[in-house]
Amino acid sequence: MAKKTLEECPRETLANEVVIVRVDYNLPLDKHGEVVDDTRLVRTLPTIQYLVEAGAKAVLLSHLGRPGGRRDEKLSLRPVAQKLEEILGSPVRFCPATTGPVARKAVEEMEGGDVLLLENTRFSPQDADNDPEWAEEIRHGAKFFVNDAFGTAHRAHASTQGIADAVKASEGEAVAGFLLEQELRFLRDAMEDPERPFVAVIGGAKISSKIDVIEALLPVVDQLLIGGAMANTFFKARGWAVGDSLVEEDRIETARSLMDLAGDKLFLPVDVVTAPCIASDVATRVCAGDEVREGERIGDIGPRSVKLFADALGKARTVIWSGPMGVFELTPFQSGTFELARAAASTADGGATVIVGGGDSAAAAVAAGVVDRLTHVSTGGSASLELLSGGEMPAITALSDR
Ligand code: 3PG
Repeated sequence: MAKKTLEECPRETLANEVVIVRVDYNLPLDKHGEVVDDTRLVRTLPTIQYLVEAGAKAVLLSHLGRPGGRRDEKLSLRPVAQKLEEILGSPVRFCPATTGPVARKAVEEMEGGDVLLLENTRFSPQDADNDPEWAEEIRHGAKFFVNDAFGTAHRAHASTQGIADAVKASEGEAVAGFLLEQELRFLRDAMEDPERPFVAVIGGAKISSKIDVIEALLPVVDQLLIGGAMANTFFKARGWAVGDSLVEEDRIETARSLMDLAGDKLFLPVDVVTAPCIASDVATRVCAGDEVREGERIGDIGPRSVKLFADALGKARTVIWSGPMGVFELTPFQSGTFELARAAASTADGGATVIVGGGDSAAAAVAAGVVDRLTHVSTGGSASLELLSGGEMPAITALSDR
């Protein structure tokens, strides 16, 4: 990779140094403020452990939610610090400020090997504004900045891009952490030099949020499989009735031109699971994609589509999967997504590279019980789409060049 990485910072250079680490601990919390899914914490452990073992003073920065530049106790990182301490197995101090005298004192009191998590960066409007003076404040005098927040790498914020610039301006090093490096390696290698056949599965509700990634994937992949509610818009473009299903009317033309562009690379579901409404206790019906009745809603792909998609995955050597095939959170509509997840896991068991974009598809892989069998599950939902689409990743661009 063209950017410097943490591995290139010898441990002895880090000893007793303040190292600011941007992590993405934007985690789901329950109504009691408890962390529901600690995946993003676990995935940053290699970077934190490396710094602890090197005797560095690791100061972690993260956002949580979108508090809009104001303090919101419900979005405090305090419970996240407790959870991190639990899984790290050593103390993690929490400071209820990000800048100012309280935060400065907390950093000054650190000793080599300590870990400190500062408060939510987004409690300050300067973070999203990418304010250079505030970026300098959150640097806390550090000569080293490690970015391990892939999930936020598409944001040009003070805690992602601005701080890297500030560290470089003070002749320090802004480097990629182990998680960020791993994310870039898997996602970029897949797009630049995939082992073939290369199959992409794109699902989710809206074409509009996935057009860029579909357009970027089309010239690269051998097959593109489309499922989820976005397939409804393609059905409509084919002139098929979709009942009361979700359709993006203003994207029907887009769907048509994507089909023309893709030719025989594009596979749509051949059958679907329908119901009078999308609910957890509803009776369903399986029918061909062009036989959806008035008043019905499509909630999942059908068994023939699962077989078609699973056969394509079975032959693949590289797979990218982003977006569920149906409303997998509800039992009547979970089969398509879960079967696809199992097929993807079998493909990975056979030695193929199977990459799952973050967000809903990662949650689906967990719910289907196959997440540990997949080659790489990204911690970034929107960030992985942005990277696959060839979009700008300002936080990565800002890191020190090799
Ligand atoms: C995410 O969870 O996708 C990232 O943390 C980015 O969050 P944001 O969309 O609020 O910037």
